[in-house]
Amino acid sequence: MSFRDELEKLRESGVASIRASADAASLEEARVKYFGRQGLLPEIMKKIGKQAASEKPELGRMANEVKKALEQVFEERRLQFSDDAGAPSYDWSLPGRPAGLGRLHPITQTTQRIIEIFRKIGFEVADGPEVETEFFCFDALNTPADHPARDLQDTLYLARPDGQGNRRLLRTHTSSVQIRTLVKQPPPIRIVAPGRVYRRDEVDATHAACFHQVEGLYVDRDVSVADLKGTVEYFFQELLGRGTRTRMRPHFFPYTEPSFEIDFSAESAGIRKKEWLEIAGCGMVHPNVFKAVGHDPEEWSGWAFGLGVERIAMVLYGVNDIRLFYENDQRFLHQF
Ligand code: DAH
Repeated sequence: MSFRDELEKLRESGVASIRASADAASLEEARVKYFGRQGLLPEIMKKIGKQAASEKPELGRMANEVKKALEQVFEERRLQFSDDAGAPSYDWSLPGRPAGLGRLHPITQTTQRIIEIFRKIGFEVADGPEVETEFFCFDALNTPADHPARDLQDTLYLARPDGQGNRRLLRTHTSSVQIRTLVKQPPPIRIVAPGRVYRRDEVDATHAACFHQVEGLYVDRDVSVADLKGTVEYFFQELLGRGTRTRMRPHFFPYTEPSFEIDFSAESAGIRKKEWLEIAGCGMVHPNVFKAVGHDPEEWSGWAFGLGVERIAMVLYGVNDIRLFYENDQRFLHQF
């Protein structure tokens, strides 16, 4: 048989047997037989070298055509046996794999709940950067340079100052958003500002170096402590139920005068041990804060508060260790 006839015979038998393979396994057998390392195609390719020199180019071309023809039928057949052939190999009767439905983190849920309660009485959400300057975090909040809150021990400063040479830091409280809002928006103002804050703190069951606060600021004419107290009572009754009692104890914050700490009756939240639980700071906006942002404290008055979201989430959900919120353990998070 001439080499040309051999080639032609290989083409015919190859095409026929590849087409005849009835399933993926017999197609694989055909693949090994024709394309495999010891297969018929490589074998015939080797023989080209032994042909007359003048014939080699033409025979080589023919051999390549045979190879391509076999590859083409092989590919057609392969597609018919694979999933993408449109003839699915799935078993549609098998139960599906459910896509895990995510949910909001308990801290986000709590923040949203707090915001909703304030929205009902006309408060808007305000925002500010987590990387702050000392002006917004301290100076404008009547917090002098020698105040302990500004200590390197308590605050996380950044190595590089901002463009104007002001020291930058990770904000220690959301109170900076009071100033951010007051400098860009004329009173009257009613805002809540949720967000992350940072402290150089030892981490334990009730402290984290990064946690969340919601700030509130209300500025108008003739605002009184009665407005503050009424709002505090409204908020905690909405949050924890009608029976919730609150009380305000005198305290000190540089940016409010007078200042208070807010306790709520823990019994109503199902905590029996201590009767009162401390939950937030608040007070009447200090005249120096108005002066720092260019408003006349004789004309404007207001109150502000700041509360810790984790604290509230721990009470709402009965969580006893703040660190659980940050571990991202699904077993914990799925409970909310
Ligand atoms: N900034 C305070 C803190 O981080 C909380 C606070 C107290 C905010 C009194 C206020 C306020 O707006 O009036 O602990």
